[in-house]
Amino acid sequence: MSALQTAPTGIFELQRNSLSKSSCAIARHKYTREDGTATSSDASAGGHEEANFQDEENIDESVKEDMKKLEDTFPGIAYRFRLLNRIGEGTFSTVYKAEDLLYDHYRNDWDVFQGRQCEIWANPPSKRRRMEGESGQYSPTKRRKPRYVALKKIYVTSSPFRIQNELELLNDLRGCRSVCPLITAFRYQDQVVAVLPFFPHTDFRIQYRTFMVADMRHYFRSLFTALHSVHKHDILHRDIKPTNFLYNPEIREGVLVDFGLAEREGSEFTGTCICGYPGYVRRSRFLQSYYSTHCSNSALSAGYPKNDSRPTKRANRAGTRGFRAPEVLFKCTSQTTKIDMWSAGVILLTLLGRRFPFFNSTDDVDATIEMASIFGTRRMKTAAAMHGQVFETNIPTIGEKGYSWERLVKWASCVEELTDSEKQATRLLTGLMELDPHKRLGASDALQHEFFTDPIEHDVEWGGPPEDSADSGEDEVDKDDDADEVAMI
Ligand SMILES: Nc1ncnc2c1ncn2[C@@H]1O[C@H](COP(=O)(O)OP(=O)(O)OP(=O)(O)O)[C@@H](O)[C@H]1O
Ligand SMILES: [Mg+2]
Repeated sequence: MSALQTAPTGIFELQRNSLSKSSCAIARHKYTREDGTATSSDASAGGHEEANFQDEENIDESVKEDMKKLEDTFPGIAYRFRLLNRIGEGTFSTVYKAEDLLYDHYRNDWDVFQGRQCEIWANPPSKRRRMEGESGQYSPTKRRKPRYVALKKIYVTSSPFRIQNELELLNDLRGCRSVCPLITAFRYQDQVVAVLPFFPHTDFRIQYRTFMVADMRHYFRSLFTALHSVHKHDILHRDIKPTNFLYNPEIREGVLVDFGLAEREGSEFTGTCICGYPGYVRRSRFLQSYYSTHCSNSALSAGYPKNDSRPTKRANRAGTRGFRAPEVLFKCTSQTTKIDMWSAGVILLTLLGRRFPFFNSTDDVDATIEMASIFGTRRMKTAAAMHGQVFETNIPTIGEKGYSWERLVKWASCVEELTDSEKQATRLLTGLMELDPHKRLGASDALQHEFFTDPIEHDVEWGGPPEDSADSGEDEVDKDDDADEVAMI
């Protein structure tokens, strides 16, 4: 752990500002101790959910063991938190729901949802059960309303730079609406635990088929609000996907989590991509390229060149399969906040198309092919050339022209016709899933879209796929191809 300073054993006995320099700032600001002065928020404490309350009754033995291990290996954690359940196991971390036992000892400016949640979440029945082996000073007789946090234990395999980066960015984004604030963070030896407010939410896999367009409007207003704040700070989230936006349909708001892959715009630039140059410069570069001068169309054959002497192009491709923007796949070295807008578009497509996951490729080449089967080869070639790349395919089913998003949504959701409100949502989708990042909507543009400013309220419940839907759309493909081409341009 080179980036984080070493902390002595018993870290919890120290002030919470004993992390790295940058993390000190987090700790001081968020956790200024106010001995004996419980905040006014104390009075309205109870509402902090109980969506997951039942789950805590039937915790798997392996989860119990896992939580016990954390308590045993991270000195002092059981004194501060009562671990309740494991709520997330990602690529980079395990997330636990816990009760904040020392909530009243600190100022809790971060607790912005508390008042609202109080109105909608019923108080849980008083429960003073203690976990087996729990140590600490929690008094079972003293009645207090439980305050919940999410403890994100970042895996030791994550690089210290990544961990510090996530904590720093979260610290910078403190106070941004719809972004999950960082309360504080602790480190013991090589273990780092970030403390976040627990945000009750519904699993996307449960809601995506039942979402009405009006629900989508609430969801995306909240998501774009979050992205607007994040992008205003010139930060790319890089991993926008349903599990990183915790949406609560009761309050019609969500919070953006997981800044593990986030970065400041420009920090990963490995050279300026030609997509930033004017069109005529790009054209002349292309005409001078090896591809243009040596590879006439007739010379093209299937496969990869055996001896490719071109230097490898490296670009950040961090993100999740199925949500990566085309410029990420085309190795653009000047990626911008627009990559998040594409990913948000994929979520909207999932909701409108009622298919999750919508894109299901195994690697980046497959992902490009998936895109090509929607956009057609002509537009893919243009998009690739924009970043100095060449797109070629000999897959016969991929046409030149591609299809409109309206058509795609109809096929995916197996409906004959879209409602006016679905059509309006699809127009927003078209602005988000634009191959050229310069033409793609930004978060503030999206919030100004007619979908939000002049909503068409004509919602009907989705009836589910018809019995024999499998082939219904395919026969029409060629018939309306030309019309689609016009619609896409
Ligand atoms: N503040 C929170 N409140 C409630 N649940 C949370 C919170 N933070 C995270 N979670 C849960 O834990 C899961 C994983 O969290 P997070 O995305 O931060 O970790 P990760 O290891 O980066 O995950 P992944 O690799 O899957 O993206 C989330 O999808 C969510 O279900
Ligand atoms: Mg995540």
